[in-house]
Amino acid sequence: MSHKISSLEQYREVYQKSVQQPEAFWSSIAESFEWEKRWDNVLKWNFISPEVKWFSNGKLNITENCLDRHLVLDSDKTAIIWEPNGINEPTRKLSYKELAEEVNKFSNVLRDLGAEKGDRICLYMPMVPELTIAVLACARIGAIHSVVFAGFSAQSLGDRINDAGCKILITADGLFRGSKTVNLKAIADEALELTSVIKSVVVFKRTGEDVPMLPSRDYWWGDLMEDASIEAAPEIMDSEDPLFILYTSGSTGKPKGVVHSTAGYMIYAYYTFLNVFQYESEDIFWCTADVGWITGHTYIIYGPLLNGATTVMFEGVPNFPDAGRFWAIIDKLQVTKFYTAPTAIRSLMAAGTDFVNPYKLSSLKVIGSVGEPINEEAWHWYDEHIGKKRCPIVDTWWQTETGGIMIAPIAHVTPTKPTFATLPLPGVQPILVDSEGNELKENDVEGLLCMKFPWPGIIRTTYGDHERCRQNYFTTFPGLYFTGDGCRRDKDGYYRIIGRVDDVMNVSGHRLGTAEVENAIDEHKNVIESAVVGFPHEIKGQGIFAFVITESLIGDITQFENEIRDLVSKIISPIAKPDKIVVVPGLPKTRSGKIMRRILRKIAEGDTSNLGDITTLLDPGVVDEIIQLIQIKK
Ligand code: PRX
Repeated sequence: MSHKISSLEQYREVYQKSVQQPEAFWSSIAESFEWEKRWDNVLKWNFISPEVKWFSNGKLNITENCLDRHLVLDSDKTAIIWEPNGINEPTRKLSYKELAEEVNKFSNVLRDLGAEKGDRICLYMPMVPELTIAVLACARIGAIHSVVFAGFSAQSLGDRINDAGCKILITADGLFRGSKTVNLKAIADEALELTSVIKSVVVFKRTGEDVPMLPSRDYWWGDLMEDASIEAAPEIMDSEDPLFILYTSGSTGKPKGVVHSTAGYMIYAYYTFLNVFQYESEDIFWCTADVGWITGHTYIIYGPLLNGATTVMFEGVPNFPDAGRFWAIIDKLQVTKFYTAPTAIRSLMAAGTDFVNPYKLSSLKVIGSVGEPINEEAWHWYDEHIGKKRCPIVDTWWQTETGGIMIAPIAHVTPTKPTFATLPLPGVQPILVDSEGNELKENDVEGLLCMKFPWPGIIRTTYGDHERCRQNYFTTFPGLYFTGDGCRRDKDGYYRIIGRVDDVMNVSGHRLGTAEVENAIDEHKNVIESAVVGFPHEIKGQGIFAFVITESLIGDITQFENEIRDLVSKIISPIAKPDKIVVVPGLPKTRSGKIMRRILRKIAEGDTSNLGDITTLLDPGVVDEIIQLIQIKK
């Protein structure tokens, strides 16, 4: 039975059913998968503990559904098309059969290294097919993968390895990103100094540079794979066994490990990919995210492969060798469905249509957006110059914690509206509340976005710290999952996401906590205290503005700023580098010592005309001093 929705009327019917009979709705989708044993119970849940269990006691392995299932009829179909960073290197294609064999081989390699069900394995890799192979091999043997974006620093990698207690690290000698080469193994080695939990390191050869290999810890991927068998029995997993951990930033403390389960995530990734993009078997689907983020997990790997689709994996960056690269690849590979982030659209829009015009984009049928609010100008440019007004834009709202798309148009079904994520997908029950938690029942309102009922892809816990999961998402409004986003629902019931209402920034679609960046800045020997806020940035969506109090006067301000940026790069990642740094004599604090970020946000936005009530500040004078300093700096 097809689960694909093909008209607005059908969407409304299916949506009603999914809300009135969620168990019947989701089990009809679960029926279409391969199970070793059927589930006993469709759903048990409460949002207080919280505890959510979908398809209890069902037994399965997700890779049988991503791979083995397609080998019967589609073994020669292309599973992955890999486009390298450099334009002179050839495209690589792997059929479902080849991918399944590689996954089996690497599963055997991992088992030979002692990996067992439930072990955590860290992946710190370039965007090469071997990353997907390693992800799936972990899933095949029941190990929990924790992919760390290869732009993160040694410190961030080390912290994530320690938090999850990873036994094996899979990395590469280096990676190519645009005109740059990054020596990944050197960063991995630095991270390994910070941890003692890793027993083995597997190194994939990508750049061919010389890297030190520690005997009886470090192994070359190629050597281990040489004699590995192409048969590997899948580990039988319980529906609720964790499939992966993915670290993401919150408003406090260090990034937390979001844990997703096996069956629920699988069903949700499958269903949302099928419907939002209206998947057709001849599609060439390209999601430009990195596998290091949730978008890559769900819409480069799991969603497409569960549907038997052909998925494109691109190693490079949008502006290398020039700003036409995305459009050149769409033309070359005849991409039919394209999914990218507003920040990329804005930067390519700034480069101009001369980079678009040389390429034929007539293969495109659907174009998507994810990760941050898309502004009107970017939406229209995308619509006109890329979709040529023929392709619906699916503006998809979701989060690392939701596992898959939650609010989005269904392509060719839901009428789109610029900057609106439109309507909830079947099974998704959003509500808007005011700051006291009262539901805003009417349309044409603005409030805080929450979910009142679980969907299969919901976060199960934060690794090793369930209390943090409860505190973060389930205590602000008891009985609801709180997303952290502000949202408007217009007169037609369409949702438009406004942005985070907590201390989380969204920089080029990357999620960063203000506290994380402040902690890194505070490591500078001359810094006493800092406060960081996001501010509107033309390309990045949000930029990072840092207000810093120093111990002594700064002689060379440029040098000081460079030191701060280097420090943040080193501790977190270059993506977290502040765009603007201003040294201030004090910070606006309340009498109880709390920094009033609301005021700093206004100042950073350049909107100092209406700062609201500042009389509760310990030293209201500091606000004027900061404003003046910024004006002098300009
Ligand atoms: O603020 C929302 C924004 O990104 C946050 C989630 O970030 P992350 O977990 O890194 O996942 C990004 C990819 C799914 C959300 O809380 N966000 C995501 N998609 C949209 C969005 N904001 C507006 N419109 C979107 N389509």
